[in-house]
Amino acid sequence: MKVNWGTALVAIPASQSLFLLDNTSMTTTISSKPIPTAERLIFALDVQNVDEAKALVEQLGDAVRFYKIGLELFMAGGYFELLDWLAARGKKIFVDLKFFDVPETVKRAVAALKGRPVEFCTVHGNQGIMEAAVAAQSGVKILAVTVLTSLDRGDLADLGFACDTAELVLSRAKRALEAGCAGVISSGLEAARLRASLGDKLLIISPGIRPVDNTTTDDQKRIVTPRAAFEAGADYIVVGRPIRNAADPRTAALAIQAEIASVFA
Ligand code: C5P
Repeated sequence: MKVNWGTALVAIPASQSLFLLDNTSMTTTISSKPIPTAERLIFALDVQNVDEAKALVEQLGDAVRFYKIGLELFMAGGYFELLDWLAARGKKIFVDLKFFDVPETVKRAVAALKGRPVEFCTVHGNQGIMEAAVAAQSGVKILAVTVLTSLDRGDLADLGFACDTAELVLSRAKRALEAGCAGVISSGLEAARLRASLGDKLLIISPGIRPVDNTTTDDQKRIVTPRAAFEAGADYIVVGRPIRNAADPRTAALAIQAEIASVFA
């Protein structure tokens, strides 16, 4: 399905002064990769400890099939036992530790995932770091972080990047593709431009998602709705707090699944 960006916009109140898309002449294609629709929602399981994680996974049940496990649970202990526990329940797993170190250390860290029940892991670094992660041949798909969705242009200027956010995301995604990464983490705001410039091969995983009925931005500055992210060409979305902090997380997850199903119907 083709989407003309003249009609598909971010459904966020203007009062929140978020970025609006300027890709009005861009046409993108909704992902046709053979990904089960229910797995296109990746839930960021950002909780304090493994007991809390397991309770939430059990509460969510079949509403969530793909979990992103990040730094908070890594630091809490029991990380790898939790991965096995999830895998035993048929869940897919994304290890989001954003490896950033000298290439050899990154390579060895990624290699340590070999044999673990993990689909994706993230690296955050330059060409050499991404190449090292790919060279580890761990059997895990490497995703490169482009620009964190919590950063806006002012934050990038603080870090010394003089360029536009979208240009930086595109340049980093091109390098990720060249380095052999399977995909990139990118805001739905930039997904359309990545698809138009880089084609279908690269997986695009978009965090910074806020459902229409939950417009709290938290620390995210570049956000879109689930529908807008997929219409921009994302393959997966990552959603955390809009599910975790909902009065009923399972109902919130099911509502997002229904929105995704309507995009891919
Ligand atoms: O939906 P929510 O804002 O809670 O999602 C935050 C999650 O997305 C965190 O786990 C964070 O690590 C992740 N993330 C992100 N931006 C990126 C990459 C990952 O917000 N560029």
